[in-house]
Amino acid sequence: MSPLIPKGKRPWTTDPGHIHDAPHPPPMPDEPESTAGSSASPPGPAAESLEPIEVRQAVEEEREPHGDPAPVPDPSEVEVPKELADEIRRAMKRYPRKRSAVMPALWAVQRRYGWCTPKGIRQAAAVMGVTPGYLQAVASYYDLFRLEPEGEHQVLVCTNISCWLRGADVLLESFCEAAGIDGPGSSQDGKLFIRGFECLGACDLAPMASIDERYYGPLTEEDARAAAEQLRSGREVLPDKRLEDRPAAGGPDAKEVKG
Ligand code: FES
Repeated sequence: MSPLIPKGKRPWTTDPGHIHDAPHPPPMPDEPESTAGSSASPPGPAAESLEPIEVRQAVEEEREPHGDPAPVPDPSEVEVPKELADEIRRAMKRYPRKRSAVMPALWAVQRRYGWCTPKGIRQAAAVMGVTPGYLQAVASYYDLFRLEPEGEHQVLVCTNISCWLRGADVLLESFCEAAGIDGPGSSQDGKLFIRGFECLGACDLAPMASIDERYYGPLTEEDARAAAEQLRSGREVLPDKRLEDRPAAGGPDAKEVKG
């Protein structure tokens, strides 16, 4: 409902079943009376009977003080692992503006540290010549960037419509059970992080999951148990269920192409 007219003073909205018979809205305060009283615009409640409209303005004093943002780190003061710096620099070369490499830079940080640690973000900021706040803002926007420590291996079980119709809820439960947890979250040993996720864009694999950024499906409860064991012991995960090993539609067999 419009906030401009107080509740209880909106006669034309009190009986939605007879909306076409209801009187027109009241005239604006400076509208000529003759117009308001014409047959085209039936009279409404007197303008002076309306309560004053409260207009809130965001004033400087009302804002929360956040302090100054951290400046661009001085590269000479930040020690950055060579592989991380090289990966970020390679990404920066692919874009006309260095800031555009923010996503691959955050991925590089997340892969190295398991999540987007403040230290990793500062290192990436030093390499890119941007503020840590810029990287932090992007990382906090996207669901796939982690801002706190989670299990070493990340399992995202798609629970959207196609996967759900083919048993995604049971699959998610099986992964949680195999990880020894009651619901989505990290396992006690810190090895596994399990959560449900929205459509991952591989509906033809339903029910499917992304495990450490690789797609697998269609998965069964037995696959969930096997995958959890393989992840814990560092073995290859579900080699027969990897999307990248499936033949492309109408194309050659992916395994043949790889040799
Ligand atoms: S619904 Fe699961 S990948 Fe699309």
